[in-house]
Amino acid sequence: MTVMTQHTGSGPRQEPTSEPAPEVDLDTVDLFDPGLHADGDPHRIWAHLRRAAPLHRQTLPDGRSFASVTRYHDVRRVLSDSRAFTSERGSLLDQLGHGDEAAGQMMVSTDPPDHAALRRPLQHALSRSALEAARPRIRAAARAVLAPAADGRPFDLVASALDFPMMFTGALMGIPEQDWPDLVRWTSMAASPEDPGFTVRNRHATLAIAHHELFSYFTDQTAARPDGSGDLLDLLAGLGSRAKTVYNCYSLLLGANATTPHAFTGTVLALLDHPDQLAEARRYPELVPSLVEEGLRWTSPASSFLRHAVEDVELEGGLLHKGEAVAAWVGSANRDGKVFEDADRFDLRRTGNRHITFGAGAHYCLGAILARIALNELFTELLGRLEHIETAGPARRLRSNFIAGLGALPVAMTLRRPATQD
Ligand code: HEM
Repeated sequence: MTVMTQHTGSGPRQEPTSEPAPEVDLDTVDLFDPGLHADGDPHRIWAHLRRAAPLHRQTLPDGRSFASVTRYHDVRRVLSDSRAFTSERGSLLDQLGHGDEAAGQMMVSTDPPDHAALRRPLQHALSRSALEAARPRIRAAARAVLAPAADGRPFDLVASALDFPMMFTGALMGIPEQDWPDLVRWTSMAASPEDPGFTVRNRHATLAIAHHELFSYFTDQTAARPDGSGDLLDLLAGLGSRAKTVYNCYSLLLGANATTPHAFTGTVLALLDHPDQLAEARRYPELVPSLVEEGLRWTSPASSFLRHAVEDVELEGGLLHKGEAVAAWVGSANRDGKVFEDADRFDLRRTGNRHITFGAGAHYCLGAILARIALNELFTELLGRLEHIETAGPARRLRSNFIAGLGALPVAMTLRRPATQD
């Protein structure tokens, strides 16, 4: 894709940084292009932008334009300052120029104060205390992800991990198990419509199919509720209108399915790429929580979010004008050398890991506690039983400007049998 880029005008400050300055031609930087995230080197480009163009502007061939922020403090500010930055004109880069018909109805596309009425009813069900009861099911799901290792043959860890969140989120929501495979496929299509693993004909058709299927599915599923069962679908059915119910069912499941598997597989790849870290993780099981946090920082599966400035805003990177669209690059923020010491080093003993993988502010990930419990269970299971692991083919990155993850990770692994069957 050809692009016009601008990095002047609002006078980005070029401060000295400890990071090296990789050579990047700013005129050709195209952060919108999903191909960059699949085949290019976004981390090299982000490193350059953080240093040389921390408020970068890009115009697409069709005239749509957006700014990008890449520094930690700017990304955090854009995500968390809901007064200056609205989510109601779309929260994903792909929505640029199209608006968001779910504004005011779907939590992630609704600004405070209305946002609270959509989020509050679900908060308790996704709290740490409420989720303790789900642990056995999460552990069983972790075992299912690793089950293909049993026959000793190589398998694609991505394919197996894609089902992981559905196995416990589906149960928490009260979705019948026979529907889970379809829902995994549709949410994958909705999150990464251009990835060859999910695309049907083209991006537009893929999104149309996925949205139609998911919205019809949740319309039918919630029609007879609330029924007092107390599961998440029941709570969602009480949100006040059919549209609010269906949009938030969609968003909740997408939030879980599209991200969690990539935090896992991306961290496994990091361990394979850093054998010293893998050895350390196997030797010290008590490091699993810290490994999970470093894996979350390293992978940053939700890579970018969109906002629109509702007023002129002075950011660290420069002046953003009222009405401008801005993409906040979480994956870049989490490698900002001014915040993370030796940011490009995968270090499972990292302390003070202030990653913003789950966002910040009012929209801070509603499923963060669940995702953390799930990833801790999965790594406890993997590392506790691991005898051997190696790659069994090239990893492939997902073709998406929203989800940073893997499309394939062939591995060969041998595991000890599970200790108990709880
Ligand atoms: C590693 C896994 C996950 C990552 C990296 C992740 C990331 C994020 C991020 C960055 C946001 C903020 C969006 C914004 O500011 O516009 C968010 C919001 C959200 N996430 Fe997650 N998420 C994960 C897992 C989950 C799970 C398991 C669920 C569901 C159980 C979930 C449901 C949601 C919902 C509903 C929101 C919207 C919250 C709001 O607008 O108030 N996420 N997530």
